[in-house]
Amino acid sequence: MSKLNATDIQGFVLRGYNMPFARYCFLRLGEPKRARAFLDRLLGVITTGQTWDQGKPQSTVNIAFTHKGLAALDLPIATLISFPVEFQQGMRARGGILGDTGVNSDEHWDPLWREDDVHAWLGIHALSQNALHERFTQLQAMMEETGGATLLDSEDAASLVIDGKVTLKEHFGYTDGFGNPDYLGVERSTQPGQGKLLDDGTWAPLATGELLLGYADEAGELPVAPIPALLAANGTFMVFRKLHQNVGTFRRFLNEWAARYGAGNAMAREKLASKFIGRWRDGTPVELSPDRPDPAIAQDPKRSTNFTYAQDAAGTRCPIGAHMRRVHPRDAFGFQGRLINRRRITRRGLPYGPFAPEDGPADLSELDAQDRGVLFMVLNASISRQFEFVQQQWVNYGNDAHLGNDKDMLMGSHAEGEKYVVQGDATPGNPPLVCANLPIFVELRGGEYFFLPSITALGMMAMELVDPR
Ligand code: HEM
Repeated sequence: MSKLNATDIQGFVLRGYNMPFARYCFLRLGEPKRARAFLDRLLGVITTGQTWDQGKPQSTVNIAFTHKGLAALDLPIATLISFPVEFQQGMRARGGILGDTGVNSDEHWDPLWREDDVHAWLGIHALSQNALHERFTQLQAMMEETGGATLLDSEDAASLVIDGKVTLKEHFGYTDGFGNPDYLGVERSTQPGQGKLLDDGTWAPLATGELLLGYADEAGELPVAPIPALLAANGTFMVFRKLHQNVGTFRRFLNEWAARYGAGNAMAREKLASKFIGRWRDGTPVELSPDRPDPAIAQDPKRSTNFTYAQDAAGTRCPIGAHMRRVHPRDAFGFQGRLINRRRITRRGLPYGPFAPEDGPADLSELDAQDRGVLFMVLNASISRQFEFVQQQWVNYGNDAHLGNDKDMLMGSHAEGEKYVVQGDATPGNPPLVCANLPIFVELRGGEYFFLPSITALGMMAMELVDPR
């Protein structure tokens, strides 16, 4: 397949910008004519997927809309009702499917997300705080001058700075951002382990239609998309979830169970931490190096995502329920991974809130109350087939992995008395362990489903040219 028309696709879809600062603005659109005028102005600054010959820009701008936002733009009814039903309903209404119950239910969300008022997500990424501020001021002026949008609220995110260094860590201390699929036609060097597994054990990019509307997916079909086709093509869907991390609970739990896991073994705490996620905290995959972190593997793109699980069916290297193995089981369910090729998601996102140093307060419960977590975003062609499936079947249910009702240890919305099983064997230092009474490590604070249109589609929307016929 030839390369995609990257100038027609929003850059945020084709690449993780890997910039240390971000602000996600949540807008309410004004009356349709003004909203279209705002879009028209915005079109001039939207970052496309075009390659950056001169290096990264100082900042980027992207936009996506909720179903209510598309209605506020006065898109024709026939177009509005042609969107997939889960997008029309929005994330709050899908709470039952997503397991957003108990502490994760909408009554505990930030006020912004309890009202279903958000029409658009305006994402700014920047290389510096100054560049972020400059871009934000420019966009605010566009909103005010056109009267096309008002800012309801915004969320700032930034790479964690630890010991003075900008890192790729998240708040539990793991290096993040290794695993993301490669897609056909997307300009990015194909990395072993990032696409789909072939019969000969090599990896190939996934079909473009797993990410973008208007292209064949892994079933050889066009993903369900709105009409007209031109509105959908080169667009995708985005899930936004604000995930609060209970860092104090995590550290207390790890300390408590590490003491039982390997009494007298100085490595026990880090080893157990690696068994929760499937990577050591520096990113070394446990499947490739079960006994110790190996920076040479973690930093080598040819090896850092290049592994499979079928040869470890018992989970004695990487536990069957480890976060990474649950959400991307590779070949663990047989059929050379074919069943999971339609359940892949592309992750974006950055942490919010400051990193809590390991030598912080002795009272760990203080840490839970502080505002920190990850602004988690997923891109996929079908929210129901990809993100919702992963969240429902693999994060909050364990049947596919033969783990019964066990949920993802760190991300699951646990009821009382749930457990996490670390499989083990007779090798010294690799005992089995059942961590009982899982607390809630991650709590949902709100979010929404968005449509991220192509540049052509944005133009059509701005010029009132969306015609479903
Ligand atoms: C606070 C919330 C979360 C944290 C701290 C977290 C952390 C991590 C870490 C440390 C990794 C390993 C690094 C990597 O392979 O890139 C990872 C991988 C991954 N996570 Fe999460 N995660 C979170 C929530 C979620 C959720 C809710 C989902 C899906 C519904 C998810 C899906 C994935 C996927 C698909 C991978 C890549 C696995 C692979 O390709 O091997 N994560 N996550």
